[in-house]
Amino acid sequence: MKVIVCSSYEELSKKAAEIFAQRILQKPNIILGLATGGTPVGTYKELIRLHNEHGLDFSQVVTFNLDEYVGLAPSHPQSYRYFMDKNLFDAINIKKENTHILSGTAEDVEAECASFEEKIASAGGIDLQVLGIGSNGHIAFNEPGTSRDCRTHVVNLAESTIQDNARFFDDPSEIPRQALTLGIGTIMEAREIILLASGQGKAQAIARSVERPITLAVPASALQVHPNTVFIIDQDAASQLKREYPQHSQDLEMPSYATKIQPKVL
Ligand code: PGA
Repeated sequence: MKVIVCSSYEELSKKAAEIFAQRILQKPNIILGLATGGTPVGTYKELIRLHNEHGLDFSQVVTFNLDEYVGLAPSHPQSYRYFMDKNLFDAINIKKENTHILSGTAEDVEAECASFEEKIASAGGIDLQVLGIGSNGHIAFNEPGTSRDCRTHVVNLAESTIQDNARFFDDPSEIPRQALTLGIGTIMEAREIILLASGQGKAQAIARSVERPITLAVPASALQVHPNTVFIIDQDAASQLKREYPQHSQDLEMPSYATKIQPKVL
């Protein structure tokens, strides 16, 4: 696993978007794994800028998202489908039918999970997966203790998560108690993984994931044995790391991708 420490959240977001842009140029029909949460929003903003200003083309890109709440329709402002549409998909030229998000309103949630696994497999697997990390080291909704080989599954949300979410819901009966999530086993099959982390609140989770032994208690520590993972983190998130890591882009090749993108035909 590589670690790159960036001076700020903005720099981290640009670096992640640069990698995305390079990979999309190399493989226009790339299969992307996407995440919700606050952390990737800056990366998505930068991708939207590259689309608008440099014509970065998403017309053949296919995406699969990590997770979704059970019980929320795609039109619900707290659903992850709504989040992705607003923060990325509606602002780029991706085909909506190429964007896959688990259905939180499926009648048979187990069947929905199995069908999502099949869709990923028949698309050829995920080429590039972006991840956030929870302050407890979770990835997607795989909380501490989750088996490392689990596939896409239904999870009961921790009481603390349910309480954290309560403020977003006027009607308490709408607060989700379960979610659907890719399993750690599914995530580990992505050919390349970028984990993003920003802020002091993530510092302990990053140190435990990177510099301590792999443990079920810290789901992101499983990434230590993934052959092609980079943690792109800011200085606050790196503040509890003991070893030295490359700053900025010393460890990554960054061709000037922008010049290779065809100017947008307006
Ligand atoms: P955040 O969430 O990006 O909003 O911090 C990350 C996560 O919990 O996986």
